[in-house]
Amino acid sequence: MADPVPVITIDGPSGSGKGTISQLLARQLGYHFLDSGALYRLLALAALGRGLELEDEAAVATLARGLDVGFPPDGRILLDGALVGEELRTETTGNAASRVAALPTVRVALLERQRAFARVPGLVADGRDMGTVVFPAAPAKVFLTASAEARAERRYKQLKEKGFDPDMAELVEEIRTRDARDANRAVAPLRPAADALILDSTGLSIEAVLARALGFVRERISA
Ligand code: C5P
Repeated sequence: MADPVPVITIDGPSGSGKGTISQLLARQLGYHFLDSGALYRLLALAALGRGLELEDEAAVATLARGLDVGFPPDGRILLDGALVGEELRTETTGNAASRVAALPTVRVALLERQRAFARVPGLVADGRDMGTVVFPAAPAKVFLTASAEARAERRYKQLKEKGFDPDMAELVEEIRTRDARDANRAVAPLRPAADALILDSTGLSIEAVLARALGFVRERISA
């Protein structure tokens, strides 16, 4: 039997640097990249665009099953064939995503779609439950974390760079609320897999985090 496609899972709370580290790892290894948070964000945008209640589990799950999204290799993100802009990354969309992500049948509806990203030569999967639920057999799992304040500060800088005018205290509060919802939900709560490397990036540079993650991945996978 052919070897399974190697999958590296990078889970952690919002603002922990997962997105950056996952993309750098994928580039370094020449692997595909799954931004699973973008799927939940796109679903939330699609639900809002259709006037659905975000807690209407049956309607949102039906939408999730047929969701028309595209991730072409040039980095664009498409919903219903149209380009999605900065609204994908706002805190409002993140919060809406976290509400639809708490619905069990919605998570099931997105499961196979996420698994389909595992293609040769390999995949780096970024999310909350990549190592625990979506790819439980992944050979290399990282749980990236950082203090709420450090994460709010990073988010603050990112939003500033994008031309928004965020309020720091509000950001810390939003991050705490989202963490609590993600960690306490009944299905696929945010937690490290038993076999994950836990990496706290508070006070570490991107290069330092990447070097540790790469070292761990190379021990686990002969990539
Ligand atoms: O990672 P990102 O901030 O884009 O994710 C947005 C929201 O989507 C998270 O707060 C979380 O509730 C949800 N999510 C999830 N499982 C994933 C990825 C994201 O529940 N694998």
